[in-house]
Amino acid sequence: MTTRTKPIGYGIVGVGIWGQLHARVLADDARVNLVAICDLDQAKARQVAERHGTPHVYGSYEDMLRDPAVEAVSVTTPDFAHGAPALAAVRAGRHLLVEKPFTTTVEEGLAIIAASQQSGVKLMVDFHTRWSPSYYNAWQSIQSGELGELKLVTFRLSDTTYVPTKYISWANRSSVLWFLGPHSIDTVRWLFGDEVREVYAVRRDGVLSGMGINTPDFYTLLLQFECGGVAYLEHSWILSPNTPNLIDVKCQLQGSRGTIYIDNSHNRAFEKYSELTPHGYPDLPYADTAVMPVAQGRQVGYAAESIRYFIDCLWQDTTPLAGGIDGLRATEVILAAEQSAQINAPVQVMRHNV
Ligand SMILES: NC(=O)c1ccc[n+]([C@@H]2O[C@H](COP(=O)([O-])OP(=O)(O)OC[C@H]3O[C@@H](n4cnc5c(N)ncnc54)[C@H](O)[C@@H]3O)[C@@H](O)[C@H]2O)c1
Repeated sequence: MTTRTKPIGYGIVGVGIWGQLHARVLADDARVNLVAICDLDQAKARQVAERHGTPHVYGSYEDMLRDPAVEAVSVTTPDFAHGAPALAAVRAGRHLLVEKPFTTTVEEGLAIIAASQQSGVKLMVDFHTRWSPSYYNAWQSIQSGELGELKLVTFRLSDTTYVPTKYISWANRSSVLWFLGPHSIDTVRWLFGDEVREVYAVRRDGVLSGMGINTPDFYTLLLQFECGGVAYLEHSWILSPNTPNLIDVKCQLQGSRGTIYIDNSHNRAFEKYSELTPHGYPDLPYADTAVMPVAQGRQVGYAAESIRYFIDCLWQDTTPLAGGIDGLRATEVILAAEQSAQINAPVQVMRHNV
């Protein structure tokens, strides 16, 4: 294992909510020199750059990728806008951490994987659930044999209406399936250690479109894996904004010799009731203690851990878990689910060779 000694020159494309989280984690890491911030909104880019003492600000990723100081890149643009900057980054020989969904088309995914192999750069998709202590414990319990053979996973990952109506401005150009589905699909693929053969999906619309946001309300997916495993996934964007947490995360694993329940959102690890808490996000009674909390001014939680892990891989020259093929597989399942919901019948997942 080789270990670098010089900090990694790093750039971020898209510094909205999640790009700013990448910036906080990276700027806090002594192994990283956050040299460039890029956003179509240059005022926002300048503001984030100033906050972290980042010297270079760009309004286009093409310009940023001409900067020789940038060795690695996070792509944190909206769901539908990952493909072009991600492909340009790996073609330009930059290591790439791309947010989920990897891409929204198979063609883009295949092109990014091929280009990353050609240029020899590292490629990781930010499937951060693999860095959650709960899911990692579940994975270990399967690996050790304690749970027996994994048979069924039930995974609910949903948001309140706050997310599509206020948190992101482009909900009508994505869906709860593109926004949350990649996490659950990657998690069940990782837990089963297997590929999805068939998907049956049901989708309903109406509540959000009635609010002027043209995107589905929820999806349920029944996945059948090649070796017989079954997963049931539920993703809704219409939870009441009055629920005590912004997200609802529940997962149940049934093995032949054991059962695991995971609750990363309503486990009451922390409850706060004050004059502020009835007013909704961000003053929620159940503050986040798992995904992206802050402690002593430092970004912690598994959303930060996956980003630090990518830096570990660059620093130690190792291959990241959750690479392009994992990203592509999740995209293939989502595309099959969309088709299934349209025809109201199960669809075989088309897997592409890479
Ligand atoms: N890992 C997670 O759990 C998690 C959580 C939230 C969001 N995300 C993902 O992060 C991504 C960004 O989400 P967000 O909530 O930060 O969105 P956002 O709208 O807050 O930010 C996106 C930013 O990208 C910029 N942008 C768009 N196109 C660009 C381009 N071509 N070049 C440069 N900048 C561009 C926009 O101006 C905006 O500032 C999405 O794909 C989302 O799914 C991941």
